[in-house]
Amino acid sequence: MSLPRHVRLIEVGPRDGLQNEAQPISVDDKVQLVDALSAAGLGYIEVGSFVSPKWVPQMAGSAEVFARIQRTPDVVYGALAPNLRGFEDALAAGVKEVAVFAAASESFSQRNINCSISESLERFAPIMDAAKQHGVSVRGYVSCVLGCPYEGEVAPEQVALVARELYAMGCYEVSLGDTIGTGTAGATRKMFEVVGTHVPREKLAGHFHDTYGQALANVYASLLEGIAVFDSSIAGLGGCPYAKGASGNVATEDVLYLLNGLGIHTGIDMERLIEAGRQICTVLGRPTGSRVARARNAS
Ligand code: HMG
Ligand code: MG
Repeated sequence: MSLPRHVRLIEVGPRDGLQNEAQPISVDDKVQLVDALSAAGLGYIEVGSFVSPKWVPQMAGSAEVFARIQRTPDVVYGALAPNLRGFEDALAAGVKEVAVFAAASESFSQRNINCSISESLERFAPIMDAAKQHGVSVRGYVSCVLGCPYEGEVAPEQVALVARELYAMGCYEVSLGDTIGTGTAGATRKMFEVVGTHVPREKLAGHFHDTYGQALANVYASLLEGIAVFDSSIAGLGGCPYAKGASGNVATEDVLYLLNGLGIHTGIDMERLIEAGRQICTVLGRPTGSRVARARNAS
């Protein structure tokens, strides 16, 4: 299979990147991050989550962030919604696209959203109805597609089952998440081969955490499988509160460098992207997790 000519990058930094941060991050800083990312040419930015603030305190100010960002017409500003309550809060905040999130492993589903996989799918059904009624698009996530922090190995067939359900209920795209970043290029290809027989490949996305340093290799493996949408996080920020040891997402700067080298078009400006990463790392008081940004800042 030849490589895709265009790739869409979904910037999950303001949500996945920051949700696990213990230190408080002001609404101002979050707004500045989102605006810097849209200025860099990202076409989709996951701004926040409408989840329980008791479960994920860092995302509590998401409605305020949505109220203050400078919306650019050709950018999609998305948010997570785990249930109808979250969807209604998102709608009230002017969100036009939400993401529901399920897991391929039962234990992770329980820890992350306090219900079984089938219960989670039942919870999503009224979201899909309400979304249709309000013209809101819904993206789906499946977590733990290449391993679970509680159960270990996860069969690709199990991932396919959940992805197929999400697609069948109306998710326009299903993002497959290596939540704990243990996946390898071989396992990634196998997983997309299997899931791709149940959901069209052009409706699938890859979401790789970099715990074992394999995320970029997994992006390349996915490209070889015809996948053309990837979630990534500025400066490699990130981690899930319910996946102990899970490190950041693959860095957007690093994925862009890979894609640029392959001549694949994204419409993203590397210099502005690196600047957005520099700003948020200054706020967090941490060095960047992007190898490209580190190399550029040092040169
Ligand atoms: P629950 O405790 O089972 O829910 O939580 P409940 O319905 O029993 O409600 C309990 C309390 O939460 C009530 O408040 C509700 O009002 C409130 P109380 O009466 O105790 O004061 N509540 C809410 N508050 C605000 N917004 C809501 C909401 N719903 C209920 N939407 C729930 C169930 C799903 C809400 C909870 O488990 C939760 O919020 N979990 C958050 C999980 C999360 O955000 N995880 C991180 C994102 S997923 C991820 O990172 C993976 C991904 O990146 C892909 C990958 O890497 O694999 C996407
Ligand atoms: Mg994630």
